[in-house]
Amino acid sequence: MTSGVEEGTIYGEYQTLDESPSLLNNYFFSEGYTYGTQLQKCWPGQEHLYPLDNMDEIPEWVHQLVIQKMVEHHVIPAGFVNSTVIKDYQPGSRIVSHIDPTHIFECPIMSVSFFSDSVLCFSCKFQFKPIWVSEPVLSLPVHRSSMTVLSGYAADEITHCIRPQDIKEHRAVTILRKTGLDALRLETKSLSSSVLPPSYASDHLSGKNRDPAGDSIINSKID
Ligand code: SIN
Ligand code: MN
Repeated sequence: MTSGVEEGTIYGEYQTLDESPSLLNNYFFSEGYTYGTQLQKCWPGQEHLYPLDNMDEIPEWVHQLVIQKMVEHHVIPAGFVNSTVIKDYQPGSRIVSHIDPTHIFECPIMSVSFFSDSVLCFSCKFQFKPIWVSEPVLSLPVHRSSMTVLSGYAADEITHCIRPQDIKEHRAVTILRKTGLDALRLETKSLSSSVLPPSYASDHLSGKNRDPAGDSIINSKID
């Protein structure tokens, strides 16, 4: 876990827990990356992976109960996933419209939902104070204990989000991804000056490292 924390700031040996005060907690395992306003010089397309050996490992239960099942069901080959995020949502929390950084992660992008049902919405516009979210072009149910797989257009070309009205009860999701070989990475020395609280507000554009083929969305129940 983090070895040093000031209010709204993450630093230290590990970058696993984003401790910014929020209704949403993010736990990064194995690979984490700068996003939102975490980097002073951060803008869409400039997200960087944290330095190697700076993260907690993916927990064994994620390997056994989530990743291994995907391998057994031929969703992904063994060894594909090298990055996991667990997002823990309190009721009313949200993730604004974004595309997972295409210069960092390869497709497919998998997620498994826990505790309660929600909806993954595509192509919504957000306004704040008061919060307002436009109607999605597609609403994809993400049921408790179901798996969602995004690739192609659904991952690279259209934004997705979780609207606050769609988190009615405590929910968690684990997102399972593979980083691309040429993903940008911070050097250790650049950490101290770069880490500020997050707001997950990026829309990311560029399509490197992605497999454009195949179905865009797979949504299925986990055994
Ligand atoms: C995300 O794309 O960041 C979260 C998706 C989800 O909560 O299902
Ligand atoms: Mn996402």
